[in-house]
Amino acid sequence: MPEIVRDRSDLRFTVAHWRKEGATVAIVPTMGALHEGHLTLVRQAFNHADKVIVSIFVNPKQFAPAEDLARYPRNLEGDAELLAGAEADLIYAPHEDEIYGEGFATIVSLSGPAKAGLEDKFRPQFFDGVATVVAKLFIQSGADKAIFGEKDYQQLLVVRRMARDLDIPIEVVGIPTVRDADGLALSSRNQYLSKHERHQSTAIIRALRQAAEKIIAGAELQATIRAAARSLNTLGFKVDYVTARNAETLAVPQSPGEPLRLLAAAWLGKTRLIDNIEV
Ligand code: PAJ
Repeated sequence: MPEIVRDRSDLRFTVAHWRKEGATVAIVPTMGALHEGHLTLVRQAFNHADKVIVSIFVNPKQFAPAEDLARYPRNLEGDAELLAGAEADLIYAPHEDEIYGEGFATIVSLSGPAKAGLEDKFRPQFFDGVATVVAKLFIQSGADKAIFGEKDYQQLLVVRRMARDLDIPIEVVGIPTVRDADGLALSSRNQYLSKHERHQSTAIIRALRQAAEKIIAGAELQATIRAAARSLNTLGFKVDYVTARNAETLAVPQSPGEPLRLLAAAWLGKTRLIDNIEV
């Protein structure tokens, strides 16, 4: 079982010890309720560093009052067992006051990819909350590399931008989305889906894949995207967005030949699903 530390001083102590041995260090930030997507990040992390820390912290600052903070799945023991299987070296599961101590009053405020009109439009405080906790995890751990999933594509770009802008000496590495056999992107929130909804949920990735194929074959971008959104609405999803963006900046595409990413977010009943693919 990997050791679980709860204090940043213990985290620093272990990392300093590794550094004395000449080891490089990666961190995989998570909110727990781990699944094969997270475990893939952990295994991939060993391609980038000698030692791997997994942080588990359900970050209250990235949940809006009406969101699922209280019911977000928590299972530290189960997570620790999974992380033993993935051979993580250390679990950092900080007490809340290790992250947000008495009188905490600082928030990282973002623009650029964080204001692309995607997740930020529907979850206005979300990325400031993510960037604040992630900056702290980067600084507390002093890791060389940070491993993030492309599943949360906007988050990946936001965190990479934030680390560069704040001169935090860490390289942010993106890992392709891990999916179930039927295409659904793995997510801790998939646990909320009823059996029927789970069956319907694959419509998102199917719509994105079909749209990508049409775009590659030369179909008009905006009409193709609108058709994908319509098909999801017809199936009973409440679509927040389906859109094509520049894959590096998330800006609205301006010219042919730009690298593109298709991104979607939609509600299925009480569950919000997001997904994205490369074109
Ligand atoms: P969480 O949703 O637990 O995700 C932790 C990491 O796992 C993120 O980098 C996410 O993109 C990645 N991930 C989740 N599902 C994945 C999948 N199916 N394939 C590949 N990677 C996947 O994202 C967060 O937590 C939080 O916002 C956090 C960054 C920890 C800040 O609180």
